[in-house]
This record gives sequence, structure tokens and C-alpha cells, in this order.
Amino acid sequence: MKTFLADTEATLRLGIALGESLTPGSVILLEGDLGSGKTTLVQGIGKGLGITEPIVSPTFTLINEYTEGRFPLYHLDLYRLEPQEVAALNLESYWEGFEVIPGIVAIEWAERLPYKPDSYLSVSLTYGHGGARQVELLPFNCVINEAKIIRND
Ligand SMILES: Nc1ncnc2c1ncn2[C@@H]1O[C@H](COP(=O)(O)OP(=O)(O)OP(=O)(O)O)[C@@H](O)[C@H]1O
Ligand SMILES: [Mg+2]
Repeated sequence: MKTFLADTEATLRLGIALGESLTPGSVILLEGDLGSGKTTLVQGIGKGLGITEPIVSPTFTLINEYTEGRFPLYHLDLYRLEPQEVAALNLESYWEGFEVIPGIVAIEWAERLPYKPDSYLSVSLTYGHGGARQVELLPFNCVINEAKIIRND
């Protein structure tokens, strides 16, 4: 499913709808050029989960955990890592839920992952006309409620 995101607010709204409808254990793999809106979307997801704390880019911290919402949000950014460094992180403990409370795992620069979870939602952001963005959502082995996620209000 592809949709148009006219401005930052539209990206935030899509994230909020995702945060309201996804279940614990969901993995969101975000791809898209520098500045295409990945962090903005995750900020929306945080709002949708009821997190009031500001969600900041984990480019340097690698992972930020937010536990204030309905369930945890684990926000990762792999931009600075090589695939072999990513492999050493054992990220599967996040989506398999061992030693962590199941939550939403949102990964920026997911193209750097050397392996993928069994099920995930792929989110690809691209630049459109006049500075707007386009997004493509592709669920792999999971279902998303499109009617709930894409609203025009
Ligand atoms: N749909 C949109 N239309 C126009 N601007 C947008 C849209 N969505 C987000 N932006 C803006 O794009 C800029 C970059 O957003 P953001 O930091 O979320 O990108 P990113 O993909 O996380 O970047 P990076 O690759 O550095 O991690 C921000 O100023 C944000 O407000
Ligand atoms: Mg970012």
C-alpha cells in the first residue's frame, strides 16, 4: 500500500495510527534516504502508544527504549553500523521477546540488517514533489488494518 504524506504532520499522523493499532511484538523496518522522515514516523508511533517523553533520533545511542506507553517502544538506528556489527547486537532478542518486555521495535536504516525477523512491517519513505514524501507499507507475514491506518482526517 502506497500513500502520499504532504507534510510533517501527515507523517506524524500515520505514525500515531500505527502506534494505536500495532500489537506488542511488532517490528517496523524503516528504509529511506537521509531525512526522508523515518524518525518523524517513529515520533508518531510513540504518541500513538501514549508516550509523552520526546522521541529523539538514536543515531549515536543506537537504541532508545521508552516504557511509558501502553507497551514499550524500542527505537533503533543502524545508520552508523556495518552489517557484521549489527549481527553482533543480537537484535532478535527484541522481536523474540527474550529478556525484554514485548513491545514495538522500530528500526531506522533497516537495510543494514543482515537478517530479518519472521514477520515485520516494511516502511519505505521516498521524496516526492515539492518536498513532500511518499510511503509504501508492506506487511510480511503480518496483517495491518489499512482502513484504520490510512485516514484522511
Ligand atoms: N511528509 C513530509 N513532508 C515534508 N517534510 C517532512 C515530512 N515528514 C517529515 N518531514 C521532515 O523531514 C525532516 C527529516 O525528518 P526525519 O529526521 O524524520 O528523517 P529521517 O529519515 O529520520 O532522517 P535520518 O536519515 O537522518 O535518520 C524533518 O524536518 C521532518 O519534519
Ligand atoms: Mg532518523
